Amino acid sequence: MDIPHDDLFAAIDELKRARNAIILAHYYQEGDIQDVADYVGDSLGLSRQAAETDADVIVFAGVHFMAETAKILNPDKIVVLPDLEAGCSLADACPPDRFQAFKDAHPGHKVVSYINCSAAVKAMSDVICTSSNAADVVRLFPDGEKIIFAPDRNLGAYVQRETGRDLVLWPGTCQVHEIFSEKKLVQLKVRHPGAAVIAHPECEPHILRHADHIGSTSQLLSFVVEDPRDTFIVVTESGILHQMQKAAPNKNLIAAPPEGNCACNECPHMRRNTLEKLYLALLNLKPAIEVPEEVRVAALKPLTRMLARDLAAA
Ligand code: 13P
Ligand code: SF4
Repeated sequence: MDIPHDDLFAAIDELKRARNAIILAHYYQEGDIQDVADYVGDSLGLSRQAAETDADVIVFAGVHFMAETAKILNPDKIVVLPDLEAGCSLADACPPDRFQAFKDAHPGHKVVSYINCSAAVKAMSDVICTSSNAADVVRLFPDGEKIIFAPDRNLGAYVQRETGRDLVLWPGTCQVHEIFSEKKLVQLKVRHPGAAVIAHPECEPHILRHADHIGSTSQLLSFVVEDPRDTFIVVTESGILHQMQKAAPNKNLIAAPPEGNCACNECPHMRRNTLEKLYLALLNLKPAIEVPEEVRVAALKPLTRMLARDLAAA
């Protein structure tokens, strides 16, 4: 398949118009993809955009569970993911059959699931949350309600600390956020005493205890823009630095390093997508996401509950 290397941006723009398509990109995508997108955001913002768009085609530059969420909300639209193999360690850590057994072992519990899970796990949940609203979603339930929180044990533990609720946690983790080095973070803090440490709640508790601010990717971005400090140590996937630099060009941003010498603060799943694959997905309308109708209808209910809560709170 020929790819127009001279001006891929213009070719994508032209195809997008011809297809009446919208490109939604997560902050963890490479910079070029963020620049070609109609909307760049966190999981919550992207779900809202997917729920509201009147485009015929959604190109989801993110990972599988995100594109799947867009399809759950838009069964009649074509939803394509540039690389179908773009998964997520959290979604993979929670296979539906094992999760059903876990639920059976905890009768009488409500289920709050982080959006980073499969459609089948969403379908077994009472309500979905994202990292922007997880504590507020848990507070929807009365004090004393028994709640399972899945699949991120770190986000779940953070929500426990924030809400004072006792949650039963599924033991999943994000392979990117669990690997930040506390030793290197402390060294950075010593070298930059005026810097603010900002971290995503998917990080391990021993990392979060060093944070001046904890939030979803868009909450971290807003913090960098609004906080008067000029230096920020950013403890999340490094793709977010692209938008931070654009939104706050005079601020000094330092990506927190992982253990070892790998580039493990880049999500290998997110980074499977490239501008070339995005172009081909628009051209061929493939790979397209499909969700069995029975699962989709069951997954839509907890997802709509979150989006409705969010609208009411706005
Ligand atoms: P948010 O988009 O909610 O910040 O979550 C980050 C993430 O890891 C998405 O996979
Ligand atoms: Fe999943 Fe972590 Fe990658 Fe987000 S950064 S998609 S949670 S593996």
